[in-house]
Amino acid sequence: MRLWHPAFPAPGQTPPRANPPSHGDTVLKYARIIGTGSALPEKVLTNADLEKIVDTSDEWIRTRTGITERHIAADGETTGDLAFLAAQRALEAAGVKASEIDLIVLGTTTPDIIFPSTACLVQHRLGANGCAAFDVNAACSGFVYALGVANAFMRSGQSKKALVIGAETLTRMVDWTERETCVLFGDGAGAVVLEASDEPGIFTTRMRADGGFKHLLFNPVGVSAGFTDEPNHGVRINMLGREVFKVAVKTLDSLVGETLEDAGMKEEEIDWLIPHQANLRIIEATAKRLNMSMDRVIVTVDKHANTSSGSVPLALDYAVRSGKVQRGQNLLLEAFGGGFTWASALLRY
Ligand code: COA
Repeated sequence: MRLWHPAFPAPGQTPPRANPPSHGDTVLKYARIIGTGSALPEKVLTNADLEKIVDTSDEWIRTRTGITERHIAADGETTGDLAFLAAQRALEAAGVKASEIDLIVLGTTTPDIIFPSTACLVQHRLGANGCAAFDVNAACSGFVYALGVANAFMRSGQSKKALVIGAETLTRMVDWTERETCVLFGDGAGAVVLEASDEPGIFTTRMRADGGFKHLLFNPVGVSAGFTDEPNHGVRINMLGREVFKVAVKTLDSLVGETLEDAGMKEEEIDWLIPHQANLRIIEATAKRLNMSMDRVIVTVDKHANTSSGSVPLALDYAVRSGKVQRGQNLLLEAFGGGFTWASALLRY
């Protein structure tokens, strides 16, 4: 059994770091994204590969979901490994040292181990020891929730430079004999560095949940509820896809309306929609609600499938690095996931 990642520095060997900001420090108005990064496992599983595993077809998967391929974590490759790489790339893009970070919030529903949190594991590996670090479990809304939490820390003066990560190895929960779910998911991670600033950044974030929908999308086992004798100890995604689809479209429809209203903005002021990448048809429905043509929507679901908390920051990093998203543009980020949870962020990049 591996108790400690070999790539981690030994505990206590990282240098002492500056104290995080105290309540007495100046409170700046906005949290701004100053760097993005992402990471995907090397292994790619195409729809054609899946045709050999379950009774499905490339045509069915593409027309129902928009997915053509997904990345799958190798044996031993963890959520923390992907999160670490994405975070390193975001720090590099921001020109920020790990020791300057005073907060790490990591959205995940597939942590490496039960505890410490994956945020703590990544913190130590980056050499950011001493700052606040914790995970947020909001299923597929994990990154947007984490962004909302970090924004609140910054708006209250408790953080000046934060790392927000969304990372998952969701395929570890996939039952590869169940065609209804196994074609939908992939692994990956994305990260952003936030800086407190007087220049516009995040205008508003919304986080909502309704636990009454648990039965539509859930993983039935856990430490406290117990595991079973089934394959993978009963760890598997249970989903009523058609029902999830309907609620997702309806919920995202009202979410984007509420978000615009909250920020006092109109549909036409949004330059890019960066949605959760679960299903192209859900994304198209949200774009239609916003009167946005699909050339203003970032789509990566074709290549990544649903990477849960990883999906929005992966799409954002792709949009930034491909030159689509430019400084000064307004972005609307949204996500929906198990719980149900749903969340949004409207920001100036
Ligand atoms: N390959 C081929 N056929 C499949 C299949 C697969 N991988 N999975 C299901 N089918 C079959 C079903 O058995 C059903 O057959 P039947 O008509 O003989 O009963 C048929 O396809 C239609 O199934 P249905 O569930 O109605 O399809 P759908 O159009 O709703 O699409 C999803 C299914 C899962 C793609 C869609 O409902 C969806 O994307 N839901 C949201 C899921 C999601 O995003 N979850 C994560 C939220 S964060």
